[in-house]
Amino acid sequence: MADDANDNEDASDNPQPKVAQTGPYAVELEAGKPYFWCFCGQSANQPFCDTAHVESDFAPTPFTVDETKTYYLCGCKRTGTAPFCDTTHETLGG
Ligand code: FES
Repeated sequence: MADDANDNEDASDNPQPKVAQTGPYAVELEAGKPYFWCFCGQSANQPFCDTAHVESDFAPTPFTVDETKTYYLCGCKRTGTAPFCDTTHETLGG
């Protein structure tokens, strides 16, 4: 049933990104620097893309920030405000 929410290995019509972590990653980001947020959930360098997505149906989200400070980037890959956490992970259960 909903078992595939954490697994995009099956060939369903609606593949889901892998949940890398059921909570955000707190990271210091630098104003104006280009970043690529991992959307597929497969990167070994979370929350950033390491090109592991080439084996998936997903692509990274490029972004920059206006201010150098700590940001909370989505780890569950279900956020509606990518790449930032919107607390959707709290609805995933466990
Ligand atoms: S490794 Fe996940 S989007 Fe690139």
